[in-house]
Amino acid sequence: MENITITGNNKTENYESLLPQIQAVMDTNVDLIANMANMAAMLHETFGFWWTGFYRVVGNELVLGPFQGPLACTRIPYGRGVCGSAWKERRTLVVPDVEQFPGHIACSSASRSEIVVPVFQNGEIIAVLDIDSEHLATFDSTDATYLEKVVSFL
Ligand code: SME
Repeated sequence: MENITITGNNKTENYESLLPQIQAVMDTNVDLIANMANMAAMLHETFGFWWTGFYRVVGNELVLGPFQGPLACTRIPYGRGVCGSAWKERRTLVVPDVEQFPGHIACSSASRSEIVVPVFQNGEIIAVLDIDSEHLATFDSTDATYLEKVVSFL
């Protein structure tokens, strides 16, 4: 396995450089969890986020999936926290300051901003990608656009 090579000088260029590498690593011969694990690793390593990972829809809750970073809560109810809200609202949520988000679930007190991107398969949400930063306002519409593209590779 080759290392990731990032040639960009800013966020957009970094995503442009990373996206084809993530797509190339996705393996149709293995299950979703294996591909989620590599996707989380590549995003985490490239951008140095605080926490990068997936919660999978299992019944009526989200259950922790592959991730990089510190320990996290294992289960999140529908509609709860940023992750459960993104699932319920069926859209990407960008949270510049988690303290301003009603019902935010603080898995780590170091987390200051967050983005949650739903993973759709056949019109159904099967998981969410959750990324946390220890800085305020790390994520914007550029992240939303590229991360929605990234999760479409799953
Ligand atoms: N903060 C998330 C919970 C998951 S952790 O950040 C890894 C939320 O409010 O849904």
